[in-house]
Amino acid sequence: FMADKGNYRHFMAKEIHEQAEVVGRTLAHYVNFSSERVELPIELPFDFKDLKRLSISACGTAYLAGLIAKYWFERLARIPVEIDVASEFRYREAPLEPGSLALFVSQSGETADTLASLRYATSEKQHTLSVVNVPTSTMARESSVVAPTLAGVEVGVASTKAFTCQLTVLLSLAIAAGRARGTLSADDEKELVNALIAVPGQMTEAMKREHQIEVLSRELSKAKDVLYLGRGTSYPLAMEGALKLKEISYIHAEGYAAGELKHGPIALIDETMPVIVIAPYDNIFEKTVSNMQEVAARGGRIILITDERGALEASLDTMATIVMPSVHPIVAPLINAVPIQLLAYHTAVFMGKDVDQPRNLAKSVTVE
Ligand code: AGP
Repeated sequence: FMADKGNYRHFMAKEIHEQAEVVGRTLAHYVNFSSERVELPIELPFDFKDLKRLSISACGTAYLAGLIAKYWFERLARIPVEIDVASEFRYREAPLEPGSLALFVSQSGETADTLASLRYATSEKQHTLSVVNVPTSTMARESSVVAPTLAGVEVGVASTKAFTCQLTVLLSLAIAAGRARGTLSADDEKELVNALIAVPGQMTEAMKREHQIEVLSRELSKAKDVLYLGRGTSYPLAMEGALKLKEISYIHAEGYAAGELKHGPIALIDETMPVIVIAPYDNIFEKTVSNMQEVAARGGRIILITDERGALEASLDTMATIVMPSVHPIVAPLINAVPIQLLAYHTAVFMGKDVDQPRNLAKSVTVE
């Protein structure tokens, strides 16, 4: 296999732009478009309705996909979820009840710590379910069941399309779990499935903000530190935004739960620090707006990623507002992933960094 950049300057750009297509392909594998229901392409050796809890472990971007899935499994299926970075899970000797479910997320399926966690869970008699992108990988071979992401080969060290495909699979699984556990009605399921089906088109729409983001990234490239804030599923996405920016531009960035602002990071805010706020118009939007006001009152420069309604309601001076299409709140992280990826990408390109091969990083970390 020879990967090809097509008409793009970097694999990362190509992979960002491929997302509508590969998310659509992954979706078609898990969802029946005519019955508007999730139909898992895999045979589960357990029943979601018997589960008392779910433990998730993964590393890096895959971990952040898992953290978003925690919100989904808890909300849609009412399963208590614990999640760890795999390097902690493997050593903390978590008490696991035999017959529970341990879920792993990995693009490569070879990450040493995630694999070790999978082996620990197996030895503790857990059912193991892995969401992996490489079907021939060690994790795929050693798991009781594999839920594939159909992202295709991902070459860029910074994970992009694998992440949104992981989210697609994880949301499908959470919906299936909700149905099995009777926490989602048939109508709820249809609504959620239709929200998922709309994602590829909305991603294409989101890509249209690329020029605005490219211009904005020139400003971002001057920053020494960047803070990303979000609530709910936008909180893990804030961490993902910070991780992407760090990895490829080497600008220091942190992702925080917006509600934690007052508990420390607010001390950092001044005119020199851009604050990127991810806030779709949802039931916690107003809470995030009040955090933004706190930032603005201290001269912080806000880049707001929101949707049409949010842009209207925020009524706040921002350095920039990136307006995403209005989507069902449950799928917002899939859409808002696009601008945070583009922002990191263009900032790094503008700074002349090697975005596909950032210093010190390996595509898959197969040693501890
Ligand atoms: C993502 O941009 C990173 N390069 C990294 O955090 C990655 O997600 C992590 O190493 C996990 O890899 P995996 O998905 O192959 O297990």
